[in-house]
Amino acid sequence: MKPEIRITELREILNDHNYRYYVLNDPIISDGEYDVLFKELESLEQAHLELIHSESPTQRIGASPVTEFGTIQHQIPMLSLANAMTMDDLVAFNERAKKGLETNSITYIAEPKLDGLGVELVYKNGSLSHGSTRGDGFTGEDITHNLRTIRAIPLRLRTENSAVPSLLEVRGEVFIEKDGFSKLNQRQELDSKPVFANPRNAAAGSLRQLDPSVTATRPLSIYCYETGVIQGQSFDDHSSFLNALKTWGLPVNPLIQTVVDAAGLTTYHQELVKQRNDLPYEIDGTVFKINNYAQRNKLGTRSRSPRWAIAGKFKAQQATTVICDIDVQVGRTGALTPVAKLKSVFVAGVTVTNATLHNQDEIERKDIRIGDTVLIERAGDVIPKVVKVVKDKRPKGTRPFHIPDTCPVCSHQAYRSEGEAIWRCGNISCPRQVKGRIQHFASKLAMNIDGLGEKVVDQLVEEGYVNSIARLYSLNQDELAGLERLGEKSANNLIQAITGSKKTTFARFVFALGIRNVGEHVAKLFENYFSGDLSRFIQTSTDELEALDGVGPVGAKNVVQFWADPSNKKIVYTCLDMGVTLAKVEKNEHQLFAGQVFVFTGALEKFNRKDAKDIVDALGGKITSSVSKNTQYVVAGIGAGSKLKKAEELGIPVLSEAEFLEMVKAS
Ligand code: IVH
Repeated sequence: MKPEIRITELREILNDHNYRYYVLNDPIISDGEYDVLFKELESLEQAHLELIHSESPTQRIGASPVTEFGTIQHQIPMLSLANAMTMDDLVAFNERAKKGLETNSITYIAEPKLDGLGVELVYKNGSLSHGSTRGDGFTGEDITHNLRTIRAIPLRLRTENSAVPSLLEVRGEVFIEKDGFSKLNQRQELDSKPVFANPRNAAAGSLRQLDPSVTATRPLSIYCYETGVIQGQSFDDHSSFLNALKTWGLPVNPLIQTVVDAAGLTTYHQELVKQRNDLPYEIDGTVFKINNYAQRNKLGTRSRSPRWAIAGKFKAQQATTVICDIDVQVGRTGALTPVAKLKSVFVAGVTVTNATLHNQDEIERKDIRIGDTVLIERAGDVIPKVVKVVKDKRPKGTRPFHIPDTCPVCSHQAYRSEGEAIWRCGNISCPRQVKGRIQHFASKLAMNIDGLGEKVVDQLVEEGYVNSIARLYSLNQDELAGLERLGEKSANNLIQAITGSKKTTFARFVFALGIRNVGEHVAKLFENYFSGDLSRFIQTSTDELEALDGVGPVGAKNVVQFWADPSNKKIVYTCLDMGVTLAKVEKNEHQLFAGQVFVFTGALEKFNRKDAKDIVDALGGKITSSVSKNTQYVVAGIGAGSKLKKAEELGIPVLSEAEFLEMVKAS
């Protein structure tokens, strides 16, 4: 068969399987079989690059990462829904609508209210053109690159059963199923990344990724439920619109039903309350919409919500129980989190034994004590929260609870950064943190120690061989050979990988230390600023760091706090003693601005901040955001104020934009 024919065929086959899976809910092949077909298409396309079509299922991650999101105006605002808190509210809604429409019976479409994120998809002549978040209802963020990665969203609408409109704006909810959510969190944990509190946060975080290849790994799904502008076709009612969506290949929630009058509203609502915990995804209520579009138009909308629809809110799922104890748990980053140990209680479909108390402030605000009877609530979150203490059930003799000021695991002094509610253990060798830290230290973008995976790290720490990153460099073959599942050859390879990692760079090593808020980018920034001189970095101050563009006050404080701890310094010096060497940072002394620090202030007219940064960077200089004695030049635009004054006080030369450009030209 000719490749172009097979490629077209495979594209259609894969799209058909997607349609069966996401829309008809009736898959006929397994994931494995799908993957085989997908790989066949991928390799054929790789052999015939000219035959790759942007709508091919292989092209979902089409775009490279963006640096920021663009904005998209919604042609028709994305409204919210008024809430009905009780059954009476639903009945009253029906009465109002009947009165407004001068009728005694109304047909509604009843839908589950999904707890995800509202988005808008725009199809032009059947092809997915762009997609956006709801934003403030009028303007959303352009997340086309991420929405394209969601397999439930067709890149092209199906036409075999009905023609597609020239323009289709369709709204829906992007969400993550409960199952996919727990797997995602397990994966996050394995990768030593923060876990998400609930599926909604996970969906939101996934859609706000700058890099679509990350979004593609997240188990996102969608159900479509409303229209925006449609051109080239029109519908008389919501049920025919929803049917059309299905024929076009857009997923629509199968629990959607037609109901009539108040009894229809309340029955559907109560039915969903019962089903709620058995559904594969989180819902937080029901939505009722008048079916007939002429009736919708007659009722019209208020400023933020339509008169023709209402959300039936579910009551939070709560229960009362007793706090038997409060545990202070130490997280991977050293955060000390108080967790209430509860007398077990059944709520929201699961047995609950823990509730998060967040931090000391929260404990004080709610005056939570061991022995208290408390009302807890589970709103899709992994760990429920304490809503309030039932004060009149408080036993005699309870005392206010205080998080200890030493780490409950290693007894090291805990600290609380200014402006932060959380206490942390400051010891990078704290056993609770050590596994995560070593994994991070060994990871690809850090010291890149091949073979030091999670299982090996776990064993090394548990068997007591390794208690800090420094100790990795004195491991010997015999110690490694003693580990389960690590043959002699792998042990040998690992020793070589550890030895090989000693030759590294300042940026990698500093990133590898896992200082909070110091990611790869900031580590690189430090490497440039300190010209790779670790001892200067160790002696830095918050003022010096905060002045750097890209470093905030919290990050600066974390670095200084890190170096203030003698045990951290000791570990770093031990690494250096064991042979870790940081590559020299080449300074080009001949560059015009080599080593010079600039501050730009006021409104710039001749170039923008980004141009300024590019110019200064290219000539070997640095830009910081505040003026200090380390600043060589201040470039002042219109309306420059306090920074200009500071420069004058410190006697630092001030340049106009034109003078700066003159200097650059001279180079
Ligand atoms: S209809 C005017 N239908 O709830 C109609 N919204 O408070 C507005 N939502 O922002 C949307 N499930 O993100 C509609 N079946 C459903 C929904 C739903 C969840 C969300 C949506 C919207 C919010 C409205």
